[in-house]
Amino acid sequence: MHILHVVGARPNFMKVAPVMAALAKRDGVNQTLVHTGQHYDANMSDIFWQELGLPRPDVNLGVGSGSHAVQTAQIMIHLEEVLLAQRPDIVLVYGDINSTVAAAIVCAKLLIPIGHVEAGLRSFDRTMPEEVNRLLTDQIADLLFTPSSDGNENLLREGIAAEKIYLVGNVMIDTLVRLLPQAETVWPQLLASLEGPPQGWEQGGYALVTLHRPSNVDNPDELRHIIEALGAIAKKVPVLFPIHPRTRQRLQNFGLDTQGPNFHLTDPVGYLEFLALQRHATLVITDSGGIQEETTYLGVPCITMRKNTERPVTVTMGTNVLVGQDSSRLQDEVSRILNGESRKGQIPPLWDGKASERIADVLANYIA
Ligand code: UD1
Ligand code: UDP
Repeated sequence: MHILHVVGARPNFMKVAPVMAALAKRDGVNQTLVHTGQHYDANMSDIFWQELGLPRPDVNLGVGSGSHAVQTAQIMIHLEEVLLAQRPDIVLVYGDINSTVAAAIVCAKLLIPIGHVEAGLRSFDRTMPEEVNRLLTDQIADLLFTPSSDGNENLLREGIAAEKIYLVGNVMIDTLVRLLPQAETVWPQLLASLEGPPQGWEQGGYALVTLHRPSNVDNPDELRHIIEALGAIAKKVPVLFPIHPRTRQRLQNFGLDTQGPNFHLTDPVGYLEFLALQRHATLVITDSGGIQEETTYLGVPCITMRKNTERPVTVTMGTNVLVGQDSSRLQDEVSRILNGESRKGQIPPLWDGKASERIADVLANYIA
């Protein structure tokens, strides 16, 4: 059985690693890893191979950045050549990025079966490019692996046949469960290595921030409000912000400044480092999908700067609170958490570190 995996951006790497490891333990499985090159900076891509124990990609399509149409088209053009040459038995795609939908469309036209890992999630907000990617990918996938039961409900409502849908749990949590002990070992050096960290963060805790959604960072007024709100929060608790390249670029383009002794910007960090930072944070402020899940698993309070989430279980069961783009709600939530009023969450069912083994079982049966 030849299984070809297509990945392209940072959150894909944490998802493919445990699936490849689970499949590597099965007899008769030959795997190929294709990186589209959607993310290409060392700290958005290469840094993860070693940390996650991933093999280096067999093929890198090197597509880089571009408009949605250009990026998606480039991936399709280059991936088609690879698939025609390799003719895998099945292609696995991950998450909701442009690489995911581009790969799924190419496979559907070449009649190569598609497995979608992290299927069924819906924000019901089609202004998010990821929502369009999710809807289209799920319509043409042959095997849909969902992380939580809301995913199954969404897919059934959209007319996907029940026999294609497998509730397997969350593969991102597989990686977290495996690497949390290792993340703890990098924590002491991490404190020393960050240049000029916010004062007092070892003693007094800190707020960890990541933001990269176009709705938050592509509009100068929105981004200015957010930066001002974070500046105000930094007066109460040190703020540490490993900044996504999109957001770094927007700050520069819009001439926005993030000064202050307690407001520390740093380049994106590796997975182990970021996991350690989450684990020890007083609170996390984010618009990331994966980080909503990781904080729920870790029991760390998470404030999500979005109006909706495709991961509702992090709100209903976990530690996540949505505040939209409302700076005063953001500041109120921070104050509540600092006053010790954060909610105690639970870990959702099947977020147990074994989702990838369940995917490997399904694939073995499917091919047989
Ligand atoms: C992409 C995904 C998003 C995911 C995020 C994870 C889509 C539509 N979006 O968003 O769902 O949450 O990745 O981080 O697929 N850039 C660099 N270096 C890099 C990568 C990007 O400088 O290695 C800059 C470029 O200016 C680029 C911009 O970031 O134009 C955006 O990159 P892109 O991959 O298009 O989207 P993301 O915002 O990273
Ligand atoms: N992450 C990381 N370094 C960072 C920020 C995030 O390794 O500096 C990890 C994080 O722990 C999670 C994943 O990147 O596993 C989330 O990716 P991202 O927020 O880019 O994408 P999303 O999940 O929103 O699609």
